[in-house]
Amino acid sequence: MILKCVTCGREYDPAELDYTCPDCGPIAGTCEVRYDYEQISRRFSRETLQRNPDPTHWRYLPLLPVLQPAHIQPLAVGGTPLYRARQLEQSWDIGQIWVKDDGRNPTASLKDRASSLAVVKALEKGATAVTAASTGNAASSWSAFTALAGLPNYIFVPAGAPRAKLAQLLLYGATVIKVNGSYDQAFDLCCQAAEKWGWYNRSTAINPYLGEGKKTAALELCEQLGWEVPDYVLVSVGDGCIFQGMWKGFCDLHRLGLIERLPKMIGVQAAGSAPLVQAWEAGWERCKPLQAHTVADSISVGIPRDQVKALQAVRASGGRFIAVSDADILEAIPLLARRVGVFAEPAGATALAGLKQLAGNGIFTAKDTVAVMVTGHGLKDIDGAMKAVSQTPLEIENNLEDVAAKLSLPV
Ligand SMILES: Cc1ncc(COP(=O)(O)O)c(C=O)c1O
Ligand SMILES: [Zn+2]
Repeated sequence: MILKCVTCGREYDPAELDYTCPDCGPIAGTCEVRYDYEQISRRFSRETLQRNPDPTHWRYLPLLPVLQPAHIQPLAVGGTPLYRARQLEQSWDIGQIWVKDDGRNPTASLKDRASSLAVVKALEKGATAVTAASTGNAASSWSAFTALAGLPNYIFVPAGAPRAKLAQLLLYGATVIKVNGSYDQAFDLCCQAAEKWGWYNRSTAINPYLGEGKKTAALELCEQLGWEVPDYVLVSVGDGCIFQGMWKGFCDLHRLGLIERLPKMIGVQAAGSAPLVQAWEAGWERCKPLQAHTVADSISVGIPRDQVKALQAVRASGGRFIAVSDADILEAIPLLARRVGVFAEPAGATALAGLKQLAGNGIFTAKDTVAVMVTGHGLKDIDGAMKAVSQTPLEIENNLEDVAAKLSLPV
């Protein structure tokens, strides 16, 4: 295994480099994990997976950068359900729509795939304290795994983090530093603190291993679909780490010969927080920083930290980045709940909002297979959910007559 800088291509021994390429610095110097694929293919195949009874994402261990498996914590990450959304297929005349519910992870977001791996790397490095900047989900996930590992954890969150995510952080015992500012500001402060006090840093794109954890969502998706690769995969995008990580997963499988083709990756951003859409449309190599504002707090990101890999991924896959409005996102929450049965937080329903927009533009055909990632559970952000519904509970007196009166039913 080696680490390779995504900009200058310089290769590093993971024993010598923890974070970004020193020549290129943060963002440009994000590193990618490269493996000896020939060696992996000797012990990792469709057949070995078929014989593997482990339902968690550790079934993909040979394709993950773990040196000391003894550090794996026992929470059951991955193995999340994949649902066929037949009602939506009919409404939008799309061949197959599959919804992967990653809100069903231990701390209720896809971030557990990354945290479960990052804690192994922290312990391998002998970390005695850790940190992360996060819009909330990555931090609450990180706090669960670091609590199990007995590592003190210093978390930097923006002022607007939803209460449920703060509750998770506090319950898992993290020291929560609520920064009077945006996620982008909290991120920079966290990195400064990590450097000053030597804390192991799980922040996105600083840490090269997160995308490797997140790629297991792609591996699982392919395995659940019997190694048939969807034509399109839709993912909600903030920093771009889930997006690039899933693309890496498809590429790894392709390299190993487990899948025959690659999907087109569609990244969906909130219109008020869409620097990657802007960069992709303009053909830029880098994003222009902006002030992010969206109801989907998890993807409220003005400076996407994984932008280099995300832009490389969208171009390599022949996909696209699109923006959806906050109104579209809020509308997608009950749509997902009522048509698929899955309750998502706003960022978790954003990919479905993107699918609806593209379906309306006639992008898909009745032959296409589309996968939609649900990245976080609805109970993470109840205020967000309540904005998505117009109904309120009926207030009644404790008798049947009043029920009949309020529902206009015969007495
Ligand atoms: C629920 C949810 N969806 C999507 C994202 C976006 O992930 P990324 O920042 O890797 O693009 C996040 C990140 O916090 C998230 O928590
Ligand atoms: Zn470099």
